Amino acid sequence: MKETLTFDDILLIPKYSEIKSRSEISLQISIPKAAQLSLPIISSPMDTVTESDMVVAMAIAGGLGVIHRYNTIDEQEKIVSMARKILPSDASIAAAIGVSGDFVNRAEALYDAGADVLCVDIAHGHHILMKEALKALRDSLGNSVHLMAGNVATLEGFNDLADWGADSIRVGVGGGSICSTRVMTGHGVPTLQSVIDCAKSDRSALLIADGGIKQTGDVVKAIAAGADLVMLGSMLAGTDEAPGETFYVDGIKSKSYRGMASAAAQIDWRGHVASEEGVSHRVSVKGPVIKTLEGIEKALRSGMSYSGAINLSTFQAGSNIIRITQASLVESKPHILQG
Ligand code: IMP
Repeated sequence: MKETLTFDDILLIPKYSEIKSRSEISLQISIPKAAQLSLPIISSPMDTVTESDMVVAMAIAGGLGVIHRYNTIDEQEKIVSMARKILPSDASIAAAIGVSGDFVNRAEALYDAGADVLCVDIAHGHHILMKEALKALRDSLGNSVHLMAGNVATLEGFNDLADWGADSIRVGVGGGSICSTRVMTGHGVPTLQSVIDCAKSDRSALLIADGGIKQTGDVVKAIAAGADLVMLGSMLAGTDEAPGETFYVDGIKSKSYRGMASAAAQIDWRGHVASEEGVSHRVSVKGPVIKTLEGIEKALRSGMSYSGAINLSTFQAGSNIIRITQASLVESKPHILQG
């Protein structure tokens, strides 16, 4: 039986470095058919993470926000148009669509409104419906739109989606902080392992690590393991730009963060619960998202300097990953109070 690893199972070995200032490090990444990013971070297409404020803030910070699809075509199109008015003409705007019903109409409306990245967003992306959807989208919109697709957990899935026309692929099944897919269905692969496996692909599609990235060190590890980009839900939830009202729980100012397959989210967007594979939770409010993104950027630059890597591709190609024991994991976190 294959042994698999996730973020807390590994560390990166520090390497000889000639980087004298972290500002020398480039975090730039080219996105085919879209704008270059200066921060390899994407916000999740979830109704408690990415609507208008988040998509604008992500673009201003150099990353990318994916507007969720749990609304009417009109509502989603308005968010894209509004973002297009605010953002500089060369910034990319990404919006999510599904694979059934009126998804081609939705894609056309979003594309016409100014979205240049469309994210085909389903839980089990290695699926014939994904293959058919990617074909229908290419037939309708041609080759100039960037198609992001997912999620997949395996190299086979990654290669198939790339061959079906995806320009970037979300990798990770069952690892999200609000996800109960593994509990409910027994399926999934630890996210880091999926990244390691999919990074072996010879296809040119970009690899997006998605689900279970809970701290800045995990962002660094995901890229070292071969991710080109990292998608974040919980790390961005609770910021000022995340949609939703604030409320107090035990005196703590909070916002809701919920899986899109949670009962609460499904009832809101489709009126009934199909398969419940997510949970709804509260998170403490965090202030402006730029503060969180700056923290991630600093940690990524610092992490890359520990590996002596001047840019993202050198970092992916040259980092040394080791497996650690449970005792090492204890040592890896502040542990002064445990002595
Ligand atoms: P997080 O960054 O660990 O919070 O995970 C966010 C990711 O979880 C998203 O980008 C999706 O891939 C995934 N996700 C969102 N909603 C659900 C759900 O209800 N069930 C399972 N996975 C979900």
